[in-house]
Amino acid sequence: TNVSEIRIYEVGPRDGLQNEAKFVPTDIKIELINKLVAAGLKHIESASFVSPKWVKQMSDGVDVMKNIPRAPGVNYPVLVPNLKGYETAKQCNVEEVAIFPAGSEGFSKKNLNCSVEEGIKRFKQVADQAIKDGLRVRGYVSCVVGCPYDGPINPKNIAKITEQLLDMGCYEVSLGDTIGVGTAGSVRRLLVEVLAVAKPDQLALHFHDTYGQGLSNLLAGLEFGINTVDSSISGLGGCPYARGASGNLATEDLVYFLYGLGVNTNIDLVKLIEAGRYISNFLGKTTESKVNRAISDR
Ligand code: HMG
Ligand code: MG
Repeated sequence: TNVSEIRIYEVGPRDGLQNEAKFVPTDIKIELINKLVAAGLKHIESASFVSPKWVKQMSDGVDVMKNIPRAPGVNYPVLVPNLKGYETAKQCNVEEVAIFPAGSEGFSKKNLNCSVEEGIKRFKQVADQAIKDGLRVRGYVSCVVGCPYDGPINPKNIAKITEQLLDMGCYEVSLGDTIGVGTAGSVRRLLVEVLAVAKPDQLALHFHDTYGQGLSNLLAGLEFGINTVDSSISGLGGCPYARGASGNLATEDLVYFLYGLGVNTNIDLVKLIEAGRYISNFLGKTTESKVNRAISDR
């Protein structure tokens, strides 16, 4: 690949847990985050301040954020859907917020209860305020390849939203294959369009592994020089408003894969495996990480 160092952005405590039906107590969420820090992760999306009527699992975000012992050098961003969520994030002294317009009308309506354009308008208000307050803003675009409601998505639409997010001042845009339907081929076609409006170091890859394509999609993305990757401990994840969405690319599998490429991650795989076991044991689930399963079975 063209990259020698990869920045891993862990989304397990947010994307991973938001899709779990059984409420995960605050102290378990905090312990998971601490274990991820101990494994060496430096960017951990730790909560979302969305409407509790929409995602009950994330309703204790303030308690999570106020009680995590913040380790030096670790970034604990949170997801916010609107100014109300942003105000909560600010009270929690975060350094970074993430905004998340949809790449398709169908998903925008289901996930945010508004059109794509209206979503962009709301997120711009958040970005303007956050930048004024000195916070970093990360943008996501969801459904970058396919939408559970609208079907295949034109890469030009995703490029346009990416450009809007960069114009708002997002330091990075994470391209979300929310339902994991992408393939190396469709990811390449997407990136050709998006890289006409963004530099590789302004992009991140956020692949759900629903169809088992996460790692090959990633390799396709790395070949374009993109060097930030989102992943989720134990392969947890999904979105309650995206029918059929399942977990993200597992962080354990990502780290093992990067070792193989000779890319330095500074992650302790043994501690990562422990963090994955901790949360899957709590949830009473078999881990979705193949690497975690293989190592645990030995
Ligand atoms: P709405 O119902 O249209 O909003 O939802 P509203 O403004 O009419 O408010 C309804 C109620 O929610 C009100 O309470 C508000 O105060 C409250 P009431 O007056 O009825 O008591 N409310 C809030 N409470 C706390 N925090 C807030 C907040 N906002 C409103 N921030 C809204 C619109 C955007 C709020 C809703 O649709 C929502 O919360 N959506 C988020 C859904 C979500 O979290 N989805 C998962 C994350 S996205 C994802 O996973 C994809 C990603 O991983 C990338 C990828 O995979 O591609 C990022
Ligand atoms: Mg996601």
